[in-house]
Amino acid sequence: MSNNKKRIGLLTSGGDAPGMNAVIRSVVRTADHFGMSVYGIKAGYDGLFKGEVEKMNPSDVSGIIHRGGTILRTARCMEMMTEDGQKRAAEVLKILKLDALVVVGGDGSFKGAKALSQYGIGVIGIPATIDLDMDCTEYTVGFDTAVNTATEAIIRIRDTSSSHERCSVVEVMGRNAGYLATWCGLTGGAEEVLIPENPTNIECVIEQILNNRAKGKKHNLVVVAEGVGGSFELSLEIERVLGIEARATILGHLQRGGIPTALDRMHATVMGYMAAKAINDGNINKAVVYKNGKHELMELEDALNAKKSYDPEFYEITKILAI
Ligand code: F6P
Repeated sequence: MSNNKKRIGLLTSGGDAPGMNAVIRSVVRTADHFGMSVYGIKAGYDGLFKGEVEKMNPSDVSGIIHRGGTILRTARCMEMMTEDGQKRAAEVLKILKLDALVVVGGDGSFKGAKALSQYGIGVIGIPATIDLDMDCTEYTVGFDTAVNTATEAIIRIRDTSSSHERCSVVEVMGRNAGYLATWCGLTGGAEEVLIPENPTNIECVIEQILNNRAKGKKHNLVVVAEGVGGSFELSLEIERVLGIEARATILGHLQRGGIPTALDRMHATVMGYMAAKAINDGNINKAVVYKNGKHELMELEDALNAKKSYDPEFYEITKILAI
C-alpha cells in the first residue's frame, strides 16, 4: 500500500446529530485498518483555528457507537463563512500536515469543506443532521433518531390530550425544511402538518379540526415545523374560534440528543467506512450519500448543487388518514 502514512483530520460541525459518534468510530477504525492515522479536531472548524487537535487511536473510540452527541464536540463557526476564514483554515490544515479532512455535518459544513478543497485540501463530507434537509442524499445521520424521539414525545402528549379532549399543537425542529414534521405527523397520527414547503393558513387548520370534531373526534393533533412556527399563536386561535382547549408544546433540543437508533448507527458506520476508504484510494473532494437504497460517493460540488423536489404525497396521506 503506497499511502500508509496518510494523516486524516476529522471534525463534526454544525448542529450535533445522534450517530455522529458512530461515524467517528467508523472513520478512526477504518483508517487504522488501511494504515492511516486520524487527528480529531475539537469543536468543529472553531477548534481548528485554536489548534485543538488530537491523534485518535482505535481504542479511543471504544464504547461510543451508542452514545448521542459527538465526543469531538461541535460548533457553528462564523469565521468559516468568510473567505479569509476559509483561507486561514486551509493554511492551518497544511501546517498540521493533514492529507485530507473528513467533515461530518450539514449543508453549511459541506460548504466550508468545498471552500477548503479550492485551497488544495482533500475533503470528504458525511451528511449528518436531524433535519434531512440536504438535497444530495436521501438519508442524513441523526434523522431516524430525531423522528423516533419526537414521535415518542408526541405519543405522550396524545395521552393527555385525549384525556382532556384537547387539541395539541406540537412544534418540531427542521430549520427551513418540513421532513421531520412530515414524518412525525405520519408516525404520530396528526390530522394536520404545517410545513414550509406547503404553506397553509390557520383557517384551513381550524376547518379540519371542526370537521373532525363534527365526526365525533374528541382530541386533535397538529404538528408544526419550526420553519413555519407560531405554535402558541395557533393554539390560542383554535381556542378563540372553536372554544376547544388547546395546548402548544415546542419539543426543541430534546430531539437532538439520545441514543442513536440502529438505523442511524448503520448509516453512520457505512458512511464513515466509505469516507476513510475513499481517502485511502485517493478519491477525494467527495460526499458520501445515500441514493436509491445504496451508499455512494458523489462529487462534493455536485452534492452542493443538487436539488431535491418537494414530494406532496406524504402530505396527501396525512390528510387521507386525518378522519
Ligand atoms: O440543524 C439542526 C437544528 O436542530 C435545526 O433543526 C434547528 O433549526 C437548529 O439546528 C437549531 O440550532 P441551535 O442548536 O444552534 O440553536
